[in-house]
Amino acid sequence: MSQAITAFPHNFRAVVLGSSGALGQAFVQLLAADPRCASVMGFCRSSAPALFLEDEPSIIHCAQEVASGGAVHLVIDATGALVIDGRGPEKRLEDINAESLVRAMQVNAIGPALLMKHFVPLMVRDQRCVFASLSARVGSIEDNHKGGWYSYRASKAALNMLIQSTAIEVHRKRPLAVFAALQPGTVQSRLTQAFADQASAMAPLDSAARLLQVLDSLPSTGRAHFVDYEGRAIPW
Ligand SMILES: NC(=O)c1ccc[n+]([C@@H]2O[C@H](COP(=O)([O-])OP(=O)(O)OC[C@H]3O[C@@H](n4cnc5c(N)ncnc54)[C@H](OP(=O)(O)O)[C@@H]3O)[C@@H](O)[C@H]2O)c1
Repeated sequence: MSQAITAFPHNFRAVVLGSSGALGQAFVQLLAADPRCASVMGFCRSSAPALFLEDEPSIIHCAQEVASGGAVHLVIDATGALVIDGRGPEKRLEDINAESLVRAMQVNAIGPALLMKHFVPLMVRDQRCVFASLSARVGSIEDNHKGGWYSYRASKAALNMLIQSTAIEVHRKRPLAVFAALQPGTVQSRLTQAFADQASAMAPLDSAARLLQVLDSLPSTGRAHFVDYEGRAIPW
């Protein structure tokens, strides 16, 4: 499977954060196979340097590694977690646990905010550039019809707000920058193993290829896009 990105110039540079995950690996594989992509750098907890969402110096170290090679056109944040420290999503209000809420915010919202803080400045200035973060449809407040999953939902909703604020601020000085919160569909991965039928879930390469196609076509509007793997807008 391949997915060529056409909206960036030849020899564009890409970075994938969370490159050890199912979707992260798929993005790295697809970008490495794209003849227009000059380099794709991947960072995760087991890379050198390593990237830990709870540790800003580790994020700075990875950003410095990227900066030494020049500006980048595409940054994909494919990090995120549903089960954290052995605690899965809450079914009921009485299951809410303060520590789980804090940890979900730390991993799914604060960590990605720090990724934007340190990687957005590395993106090309006068050309199209894209920062995309893997969010989730369940982070939509309007689309929440089932309730539950308090900390995961709330942390993805917070992530969406952080992306939107970044998009609005960055647009003032860099009108060609595009920001996206992505819903990848239900994809086979460690994250979904205990929660979704893996046989009917999408293959990570399939989802990542569709998401790259979507990213390739998103316009710079001054606001972030919240979209799924078919390019359909999701209400915030
Ligand atoms: N799969 C789906 O159906 C689905 C649906 C909706 C949204 N999403 C979102 O898509 C993203 C990727 O999910 P996936 O399915 O590819 O999951 P995955 O295979 O579990 O990958 C998650 C990635 O996040 C990294 N990560 C988790 N906690 C971290 C931390 N504290 N510090 C640094 N890295 C950390 C993991 O690193 P390690 O390898 O070191 O653990 C891994 O690289 C997530 O944000 C998820 O919420 C997925």
